[in-house]
Amino acid sequence: MNLLAIAATSRKGKSTDKLVDKAIEGAKSKNHDLNVKKIYLIDYNIGYCRNCLSCRDSDTKEPFAKCSIRDDMDILCKELHESDLLIIGTPLHNGGVHEVLYTFLVRIVWVFAKPGGKLLTLHGAPVPRSDKKRKSITIISTGLVPPIYRMFCDDATHIIKDTVKVALNGKTLGSLYAGDIEHRGVDCYFNKAYKLGTLLD
Ligand SMILES: Cc1cc2nc3c(=O)[nH]c(=O)nc-3n(C[C@H](O)[C@H](O)[C@H](O)COP(=O)(O)O)c2cc1C
Repeated sequence: MNLLAIAATSRKGKSTDKLVDKAIEGAKSKNHDLNVKKIYLIDYNIGYCRNCLSCRDSDTKEPFAKCSIRDDMDILCKELHESDLLIIGTPLHNGGVHEVLYTFLVRIVWVFAKPGGKLLTLHGAPVPRSDKKRKSITIISTGLVPPIYRMFCDDATHIIKDTVKVALNGKTLGSLYAGDIEHRGVDCYFNKAYKLGTLLD
């Protein structure tokens, strides 16, 4: 089993990074043969989507379509394709995901999905190109907003969850909202992150 852990933070070694590591530890405790790859999105050159729609309109039978942009998403799409399990960690930025993660999520939707779905009265919603199923967990760290206000301030979790579902056939098994890190510190969330990781068995 291949576990891809994505840390979408500007700060290596800080809260998001530490929580992702704890979740990896939890996942490894359940599966000692796990093949783990951890990446920092800031280490990659990821350009903005240009809305050319060549990925969306591709009729390839491959598990993912080719984007018209040649950058490090070529590497990352291959990593995603090979993954069975995902950990996605991000700080909350303006109530949503870190900007590098947003760019990454935008870039993967029509590469890994095709427009065959129906949503309410809409036709052409994204559905995964591949039948391969994945399992995922999500970690959000926030500076100020405590867990009690999560429902008003956390757009990050559902953006990740929805993208993982429609593009990667991924089921989100759980999510951690590590809130108010500036006052509480991050250590108080280590156990929760570890336990979350154990869901990826
Ligand atoms: C641009 C920016 C936007 C932020 N927006 C929020 C926010 O909306 N709510 C919040 O509680 N914290 C916000 N923060 C604080 C970060 O979520 C917090 O510092 C986070 O724990 C940092 O994660 P890191 O330790 O991995 O860098 C923001 C920080 C930055 C730099």
